[in-house]
Amino acid sequence: MLPRRPLGATGLDVVPLGLGCAALGDMPETFAYAVPEERALQTLHAAFASPITFLDTGASYGDGESERRIGMVLREIGGVPADFVLSTKADRDLRTGEFSGEQFKRSVERSLRLLGLDRLQLVFLHDPEHSTFEAVMAAGGPADVLLRFKQDGIIEHVGVAGGPIDMLIHYVQTGAFEAVITHNRYTLLNQSAAPLIEMAAQRGIGVLNAAPYGSGLLAKGPNAYPRYAYTDAPEELVERARAINAIPRITSTIVGMTRPERIQETLELAAWPIPDELWPRLEALAGPPVDPESVRWR
Ligand SMILES: NC(=O)c1ccc[n+]([C@@H]2O[C@H](COP(=O)([O-])OP(=O)(O)OC[C@H]3O[C@@H](n4cnc5c(N)ncnc54)[C@H](OP(=O)(O)O)[C@@H]3O)[C@@H](O)[C@H]2O)c1
Repeated sequence: MLPRRPLGATGLDVVPLGLGCAALGDMPETFAYAVPEERALQTLHAAFASPITFLDTGASYGDGESERRIGMVLREIGGVPADFVLSTKADRDLRTGEFSGEQFKRSVERSLRLLGLDRLQLVFLHDPEHSTFEAVMAAGGPADVLLRFKQDGIIEHVGVAGGPIDMLIHYVQTGAFEAVITHNRYTLLNQSAAPLIEMAAQRGIGVLNAAPYGSGLLAKGPNAYPRYAYTDAPEELVERARAINAIPRITSTIVGMTRPERIQETLELAAWPIPDELWPRLEALAGPPVDPESVRWR
């Protein structure tokens, strides 16, 4: 079981670890590798059988292929399990670039069809950096269309997801969106999303941090996957990632145990979430660096 946290004021409670389904839609141009259908379906089945009860997808992921694959699995398991949160994103037309209200209506209708659902819990207005703020927020435009779906009960909650942080701040300030997704900008290599996160959290907007590995580099390592945010990573960034790799100095901690139940206990203790604010307080009580045996060897 994973703990659940309220997503802003949506009334949805989500686990702190979600499954992102972009690459599961097979996007070799974006990720530089393919994901065959069988592997994607197996991954989804494993997720549905796990404590991860939050899945995020989008209409543009594989141009519907991610949603189609999720829909296949949902039909097999009898729909979205209770207590599950499934979010998707409404998108521009990937072939023509059309970013209109009409296109967003078509996008939502296709998501419903591919996922095999008659309503959507959480839909994000996806990547508005491909249009202008005025056009996106205009009467009859993409935001208006999504909010009308919400009025009609087809979409329960509307959020905004995208890249540029100053742009997302602008959208969150409209008060029209209940949640925001930032990506690749709150990682070990880039924390430029901090002002957005702070501002959205203060307003009670649900914040979701996507692509914590910078699309793979921070998981696979800078040598195996020298790409960040879906393009080749600049040398400066690769160098910083190598420096991060070199930080851990302790390879293993050796613990004495003489009871069988200690094995499981210790594994659980090692995975226990420790709040950041605890470390400085513990450090203050750790005592001076005096070695009680240092007199012995002289
Ligand atoms: N505009 C937006 O709203 C937006 C933008 C970007 C992302 N997102 C969301 O965020 C999700 C996650 O982003 P992302 O997939 O682009 O990037 P990511 O989560 O930073 O990285 C995913 C990559 O990390 C690899 N990985 C994961 N766990 C690993 C492990 N234990 N060991 C080695 N490699 C590991 C995956 O490899 P394998 O494929 O081998 O598992 C995959 O290549 C997306 O799927 C999407 O739902 C939203």
